[in-house]
Amino acid sequence: MLSIDLSGRRALVAGVADDGGFGFYIAKSLAEAGATVCVATWPPALNIFRNMLERGKMDESRKLSNGALLEFERIYPLDAAFDTLADAPADIRENKRYKDLGDFSVQGLTDRLAADFGSPAFDILVHSLANGPEVKKPLLETSRAGYLAAVSVSAYSLVGMLQRLGPLMRKGGSVLSLTYMASEKVIPGYGGGMSSAKAALESDTRTLAFEAGRKWGIRVNTISAGPYASRAASAIGIIEKMVQYCARNAPLPEALSADEVGHTAAFLASPLGSGITGSTVYVDKGYHAMGMEVDALTSRDS
Ligand SMILES: NC(=O)c1ccc[n+]([C@@H]2O[C@H](COP(=O)([O-])OP(=O)(O)OC[C@H]3O[C@@H](n4cnc5c(N)ncnc54)[C@H](O)[C@@H]3O)[C@@H](O)[C@H]2O)c1
Repeated sequence: MLSIDLSGRRALVAGVADDGGFGFYIAKSLAEAGATVCVATWPPALNIFRNMLERGKMDESRKLSNGALLEFERIYPLDAAFDTLADAPADIRENKRYKDLGDFSVQGLTDRLAADFGSPAFDILVHSLANGPEVKKPLLETSRAGYLAAVSVSAYSLVGMLQRLGPLMRKGGSVLSLTYMASEKVIPGYGGGMSSAKAALESDTRTLAFEAGRKWGIRVNTISAGPYASRAASAIGIIEKMVQYCARNAPLPEALSADEVGHTAAFLASPLGSGITGSTVYVDKGYHAMGMEVDALTSRDS
């Protein structure tokens, strides 16, 4: 029987701070398939995340099919806006949420992984993070600083992470990020340069697939997920409307579950996905394929 078997593999999922987003469900699916999972968490969310774990607030969602709870082998601090600690401005380094964490940069994460596990250290890298400080502003009203911040954290961070973490990955490894179709079609309300960041992320997926494939024998793909009411998506302000709209208008007329994204991630990370790299894989109930809204059609007909 063909099955997804990730036993003996280690994953690093960057962008997990609660049990409400894709990163958590990807971590859970990878663990269901037998992988051990480390996560990297944004410093401002780290304490709350640790507290929620310790107090058992996530135990229900951590339950695996064998009855055990999803465990994280390590929880590392990571602010993906900074490649090295020296890149972080003094007010960040001295901020109370950051100052006792040591090196929270991408380089710091790389050094910790190497110290904890040697080299090669791991097999699966998941980039499930994004931030656009001006996401609620139309592109036409977005400042240069807001735009560059969105592209820096949401797109360049994949490049910076792969540059440093690639040499620690085992041959045959898999890198995965999360994108959104606002990269290619207009989604009103998804502003602040986030659509530009997703376009960059998808383009970089192709180029990085080539370069990392030739250099280290690893694959690079991105999942274009449908709308889902995670914490980050709720910051857009219209996520519930986006979820309902897609459910009404997609070929599969129901809301997307985070498990569906997790399962696709596990498949892509597994040897079953060994021929897939440089791809944008849609996990959106087929919404991307539509050229006309069903809503409009039915209201015109009636
Ligand atoms: N939810 C959706 O509708 C949707 C749809 C398509 C794609 N995505 C993408 O999925 C990915 C995960 O988002 P999600 O919606 O599951 O929300 P989420 O809130 O679970 O994940 C976003 C994570 O990014 C982290 N983060 C923000 N800034 C960071 C930084 N500077 N350094 C490190 N971490 C940082 C946050 O702490 C959070 O854990 C993102 O790339 C997002 O754009 C989401």
